[in-house]
Amino acid sequence: MKTELTVNGVSRDLDLDPRVTLLDALRHHLHMTGTKKGCDHGQCGACTVLVNGRRINSCLTLAVMHEGDQVETVESLGSPEAPNPLQEAFISCDGFQCGYCTPGQLMSATAMLEEAKEGWPSHVSESLSNPGTLSDAEIAERMSGNLCRCSAYPGIRQAIARTQG
Ligand code: FES
Repeated sequence: MKTELTVNGVSRDLDLDPRVTLLDALRHHLHMTGTKKGCDHGQCGACTVLVNGRRINSCLTLAVMHEGDQVETVESLGSPEAPNPLQEAFISCDGFQCGYCTPGQLMSATAMLEEAKEGWPSHVSESLSNPGTLSDAEIAERMSGNLCRCSAYPGIRQAIARTQG
């Protein structure tokens, strides 16, 4: 099935089986291997990408459903030579060990921090201790869809806390 996917601002024409997930289209058809496959069942968050600015598990959605959407992957952030502020914070706070979950953590945190900048919806902001800045526990709750088997959670939360605001 002819499908046009826009990933990191670049449109690409693909010929995909309609059963191919967005994750497999990225990794196997576009050879963008930054997005990782952990569980392939929507449980670990390693495959998190942004679709129109919102984070999703790319293993749980079909690529052909995303024609006309803006898909952003970890490759849209900084580079090894020039990491963006969130990536720098992950490095300086030891926000990873093996690094396998890191792309998903980064994309999830990117969306979360963007949501904070836009302003939380009232039902969310009313529940926050300080609406402008998330507490450690609030970051943990909002990042709970991204698992880290090495359990680098304290560094991950510290990196996100350092980047917010
Ligand atoms: Fe998609 Fe685990 S690989 S949630």
